[in-house]
Amino acid sequence: MGTNSNLDEALQFLREYDSEASNICFRVSSAQWAYSTNMTDFNKRRMIEEQTLKEKFGKITWRKAVEFDWTRLPDPIARRQIKMLVMNSKATLSDDKYNEIYHLISEMKDLYSHARICPYSSNPYKNESIYCDLDVEDAKRIIAKSRDTRELLHVWREWHDRTGPNMKNKFMRYVELANQAARFNGFQDASEEMQFVYETPDFEDNLAQTIQQILPLYKELFAYVRTKLYDKYGPEVVRAEGPLPAHILGDLWAQDFSNIHDLVTPFPEFGNIDATAEMLRQGFTPLRIFQMAEEFYTSLGLKPMPPEFWRYSMIEKPTARRVQCTASAWDFCNKIDYRIKQCTEVNMKNLIDTHHEMAHIEYYLYYSDQPFLYRDGSNPGFHEAVANAIILSVFNPTHFYRMGLSNNKTEGYEHNINFLMLMALRKVAYAPFAYIVDQWRYQIFRQGVMKMNSDWWSLRLRFQGVVPPIPRTESHFDAAAKRHIPADISYVKYYVALLLEFQIHEAMCSAAGHTGPLHTCDVYRSREAGRVLSDVLRVGKASHWQNVIKMLTRGKSEKLSAEPMLNYFEPLLLWLREANKKEPIIGWMTNKNDVALYQSLVYAANANILLPSTFSIVSTVIFYSLL
Ligand SMILES: *[C@@H]1O[C@H](CO)[C@@H](O)[C@H](O)[C@H]1NC(C)=O
Ligand SMILES: *[C@@H]1O[C@H](CO)[C@@H](O)[C@H](O)[C@H]1NC(C)=O
Ligand SMILES: [Zn+2]
Repeated sequence: MGTNSNLDEALQFLREYDSEASNICFRVSSAQWAYSTNMTDFNKRRMIEEQTLKEKFGKITWRKAVEFDWTRLPDPIARRQIKMLVMNSKATLSDDKYNEIYHLISEMKDLYSHARICPYSSNPYKNESIYCDLDVEDAKRIIAKSRDTRELLHVWREWHDRTGPNMKNKFMRYVELANQAARFNGFQDASEEMQFVYETPDFEDNLAQTIQQILPLYKELFAYVRTKLYDKYGPEVVRAEGPLPAHILGDLWAQDFSNIHDLVTPFPEFGNIDATAEMLRQGFTPLRIFQMAEEFYTSLGLKPMPPEFWRYSMIEKPTARRVQCTASAWDFCNKIDYRIKQCTEVNMKNLIDTHHEMAHIEYYLYYSDQPFLYRDGSNPGFHEAVANAIILSVFNPTHFYRMGLSNNKTEGYEHNINFLMLMALRKVAYAPFAYIVDQWRYQIFRQGVMKMNSDWWSLRLRFQGVVPPIPRTESHFDAAAKRHIPADISYVKYYVALLLEFQIHEAMCSAAGHTGPLHTCDVYRSREAGRVLSDVLRVGKASHWQNVIKMLTRGKSEKLSAEPMLNYFEPLLLWLREANKKEPIIGWMTNKNDVALYQSLVYAANANILLPSTFSIVSTVIFYSLL
């Protein structure tokens, strides 16, 4: 660290940084936009050039920032900003190592995005003409839709075998380099560095507390889902009272159970919320969906979308060129251009997604007057939290009725329970997964890479009650089946966002004067709720996020809390307790076979069941009978 503590020089440096960083951000976003909405080789090259420029800029900035001794700067704002720039830890590595870690990450990302799997064939003899070209989206789709456990197992195994093992060595080197970079900066290891952005010493304790609050609800949900899956698949696949195998929950990572909603709906005869048919009947268009979303925000007193938004956004899939269709909201960092890119189709999902993406734009618009470093969510969870908090108002029967998209005004008890079940399969089921991904990463950074795979599955079993459907060893690397691991993208922000989403929703509903169950609250047309929200948005990252929570809760709390989420699901919890009355185990009982599935040591002791990493269907069946 340098010795310069001259405030004028620091402020001058920050002013220059601000304008250059905004400018580079504009150039990179423009090039990324050009490529994402028109995928030509030329546009790709240009995008990569701009990204390289940005990396160089990051490194130069860091060199300048470390000339200052931020700890001795008299102005708290300058101090915090320079600290943020200095703590960009990977830049502390020598050029060689800096390049190596970026190279490793980009190789791992490539391996992930190029992973392809073979389709399932019920014919055990390989048909030469089978084309192994299914990608992650195909794998997700099959796991979501298929109810054939052999097909589910095949796809699960293929995806996990064709991602992790190829990256394992690269990842181990990456862990080493990331830890070195962190230590150069005075952190104990990269786990501490990952948490630095939250600027809160008891961050992990705060998280640990909340997951303990959620687990009783999760376990009720889990026990109920297990009974339904037991009824569907029988004892060969599901052990009564045991954990669940990861391939039958409707999601490639068993992180969201809503795709098996049809198997577990409490009152199937009452159906569920769906506005698609009505939208089609009323002749909705993509433009009308966007206008409806904008009207939601203006009804709260928030800003309309600027003219450039309407002129340049891509709201439909163009026919004449290749585009990336993933919905996204863009801030071009020039205080003028804000856009959404979405291949909108007329259905309920797209209606929801449009509201979600537009919430990001509102956030961009409100913090646009902050310095560049503060034009961001208050912590990495806030952007998603805000967008999803809005969705809690939009995706609910009250709102659809008000918007003329459903005609059942008096939704009865059964409808409400069905709706809450759907939400729980998404949100409650997600909580333990969102929690453990970075718990695992912290553990690897702290304790080393000796048993990465068994550490992964211990956490999954302990918090999610999920086991691998077939034996795994340390030659596998199942955490890397999730893109955020090879791509070096932090995950705990999704857990933070999940908690905050309900905290923000509850605060807006209370400002709107909502009475009755929280899940029926719709803040549409409430200026009071809009004020609560815009106060949060305007701050951006300029203030510590705990102050923002304090403002949100009117001084009651400054912590992440699971209480609003539990409050939202309270009616479902009561129903689940009743439905689970005959369940001997709320949650799961773990036995040594569950642990043996992934602890290779235990496994090696039973040499006759130590299987090679590619199993035939036959050996799997043998294995199931061991459970
Ligand atoms: C797509 O990009 C190419 C450059 O590779 C450009 O010539 C073309 O005009 C672009 N098309 C559209 C519709 O923007
Ligand atoms: C492979 O499957 C295709 C379509 O099912 C069939 O037409 C073809 O004859 C099969 N080839 C072999 C070598 O069995
Ligand atoms: Zn989002």
